[in-house]
Amino acid sequence: MLQSAAKVLSFASATSVSRGIATGIRHYCKNTPTKLRVSQALSGAELGSNIKVQGWVRSVRAQKANVFLHVNDGSSLQSLQVVASSELSDPLLTFGSAVEVTGILKKSPHQKQPVELDAKQISVVGECNPVDFPFKIKERHGLEYIRQFPHLRCRTNAFSSLLRIRSEATAAIHSYFKDNGFVEINTPIITSNDCEGAGELFQVEPSGPDYADGENFFSVPAYLTVSGQLHLEVVSGAFSKVYTFGPTFRAENSQSRRHLAEFYMVEAEISFTQSLEDLTKVMEDMFRFATEHVLAHCVEDVDLFHKHVTPGHRDTVDAMLKNSFPVITYREAIDILHRSSERFAFPTDWGCDLKTEHEKYLVKHCGNIPVFVTDYPYDLKPFYARDNQDHPERTAAAVDLLVPGVGELCGGSLREERLNLLSARLEEAGLEDVYSWYLDLRRFGSVPHGGFGLGFERYLQCILGVDNIKDVVPFPRFSHSCLL
Ligand code: 4AD
Ligand code: MG
Repeated sequence: MLQSAAKVLSFASATSVSRGIATGIRHYCKNTPTKLRVSQALSGAELGSNIKVQGWVRSVRAQKANVFLHVNDGSSLQSLQVVASSELSDPLLTFGSAVEVTGILKKSPHQKQPVELDAKQISVVGECNPVDFPFKIKERHGLEYIRQFPHLRCRTNAFSSLLRIRSEATAAIHSYFKDNGFVEINTPIITSNDCEGAGELFQVEPSGPDYADGENFFSVPAYLTVSGQLHLEVVSGAFSKVYTFGPTFRAENSQSRRHLAEFYMVEAEISFTQSLEDLTKVMEDMFRFATEHVLAHCVEDVDLFHKHVTPGHRDTVDAMLKNSFPVITYREAIDILHRSSERFAFPTDWGCDLKTEHEKYLVKHCGNIPVFVTDYPYDLKPFYARDNQDHPERTAAAVDLLVPGVGELCGGSLREERLNLLSARLEEAGLEDVYSWYLDLRRFGSVPHGGFGLGFERYLQCILGVDNIKDVVPFPRFSHSCLL
């Protein structure tokens, strides 16, 4: 019985939607309501108009004469208050249900919201049984709880805020590069090389009976990309500033709070570099630009995190923006760690990789603001990193940006542009044949160049103060998880 009622209601809504789309003209006929997103309705620009909103019920409150609803459609954190006479009340109007409401947009007598929708008609498009629905009205569920429902968590305030912030930050990063003369390059997802040389690769082969003979589809083993760097380097042989922003894959068997098997990386490559400073400037500028943009354009969404999810984090973000990022060498970092009274689980001798515990300590030591660490031991860095030729220590011109709460946010380096040094290193690693095309880049018009990669999810963790990387990505992929 309930089901057929819902069907009739949804049919009614479908016809009215298509009428709106077919005309494409606002106020086409006096009785046709203007379809608005909740954020448009809240702006108050259509005050007094007959409007229609579609969304999901975030609260329902019935009083004697009236029913009050809050309807949200993902366009803003704020929901639109709907006031309806109790005749329009319907037992299917529950928390989580999908509705379509038409009525007159009026000034609200309440201080908290500027406008409210005086409903003339409410249709329940999709029912939601509030007993079975995992989120409860008026409860503020923690990130860990909602993480158990990756298919439903976008219906919570916190996660919908996160998704809006993520979208805005993405746009800001593209703007930064466009405004600064970078050309976006779509680097391939399927590739035959292991740019980082860490062997954390997902192999790609077709499945199905036609491909059962064990031959490589591409004639060589192919993998999901671990970095677009080498392809950006190809294009940086003709374009002085390029970038890419896309999915990146690492088969790390890690259940950590800062690793995913699929994450988004922003990578830039710049030709005619003079020093690491050419890279650190872009990293710092981009960080500032994107963060200031997000703070200015997602005020309520960021506030939700800084007030309710990660209280106090706003001060950390303000400090990051107020101060310029210090630069220390790896040698200085090791000295700082040695002088510390902290007991580290991992060694801190010259030549050791910096672990998260070291990175977090260094950030705190430098005033809890982002810090660049430069000139790592040559042997710690992949084959492409430029040799500083500073015997006896022997370092490479590489730089990491470490940030509060997260540790490493960016990794970059000047690239070895000298053919003799690069081919010697590749030969030593037995990779000269595999990377003969890469050596060609040094044979024909090679220039000093360098670049970096920024982990986009870690960036979001950093500005929002979110502890677990799985809470800043729409659909987290990590080892031993079931995929949606
Ligand atoms: O330091 P990485 O490995 O550097 C590179 O891949 C370079 N080829 C980039 C370049 O120079 N174009 O990775 C860059 C950043 C890291 O600093 C980290 O923020 C992020 O990518 N990252 C991850 N983020 C989430 N999950 C993982 N498994 C990640 N691995 C790296
Ligand atoms: Mg790195």
